[in-house]
Amino acid sequence: MPRWVTGPCNLPDVPSGLYLHMVFLVASVCLACSDRTPEQLAAIMNCSKHERHTRNYDYMEGGDVRIRQLFSRTQWFLTVDDDGNINGTQDATNCYSILEIRTVSEGGVLAIKGVKSQYYISMNKTGLLQGKKNYNENCNFKEIFLENYFNAYSSAKWTRNGKDMFIALSQKGRPLRGKKTRREHIASHFIPMKCREEERTSV
Ligand SMILES: *[C@@H]1O[C@H](CO)[C@@H](O)[C@H](O)[C@H]1NC(C)=O
Ligand SMILES: *[C@@H]1O[C@H](CO)[C@@H](O)[C@H](O)[C@H]1NC(C)=O
Ligand SMILES: *[C@@H]1O[C@H](CO)[C@@H](O)[C@H](O)[C@H]1NC(C)=O
Repeated sequence: MPRWVTGPCNLPDVPSGLYLHMVFLVASVCLACSDRTPEQLAAIMNCSKHERHTRNYDYMEGGDVRIRQLFSRTQWFLTVDDDGNINGTQDATNCYSILEIRTVSEGGVLAIKGVKSQYYISMNKTGLLQGKKNYNENCNFKEIFLENYFNAYSSAKWTRNGKDMFIALSQKGRPLRGKKTRREHIASHFIPMKCREEERTSV
């Protein structure tokens, strides 16, 4: 499979002949979320009970705030659950996959919080990913723009032997230990997807 083949936004299998077509659609379809059915969009919006409060609070603090799902190149939506587990789901309407991404400082440093769980994604020195109720430096990630609309997110605080450690979901949708991750590996590649109707027009 060529490197740039990204797979569909919707999860059912797509015959490989369609991939070429998909590649041209990925940007507009994924980023605009117009692949969601009205029911999916309604369910997603229903997820965000805390959100208005959270966003107002964040705006008061300054910093750009976006609501996104992070869809991995391994075909999973990143989730942060109420126990602080980081995981993957294939259910596009899973509330734990709705994430608030906030710019923390210049140079693409940001913090990522589960809207429902209100846990921040954190990576500690050993490269383990965990949700944390309270924000600290371990919750800072550098957003790196890759080719073909994928981004990678590396710990802004920790490296291992001088190498960046990334947020990554395996082919099975499980989080990878930071030391096993590489920028080049598809497990570290994510597309930030807009998930709400109202954001369709806001580009
Ligand atoms: C929204 O949430 C309520 C309460 O949790 C539930 O009863 C309702 O079915 C949900 N609506 C959708 C569209 O998911
Ligand atoms: C993580 O996701 C996998 C695949 O969906 C699931 O089998 C597993 O139970 C999940 N683990 C946790 C801790 O939620
Ligand atoms: C890193 O996080 C894991 C999981 O929470 C924990 O078991 C481990 O002790 C932590 N290591 C350090 C150095 O904080």
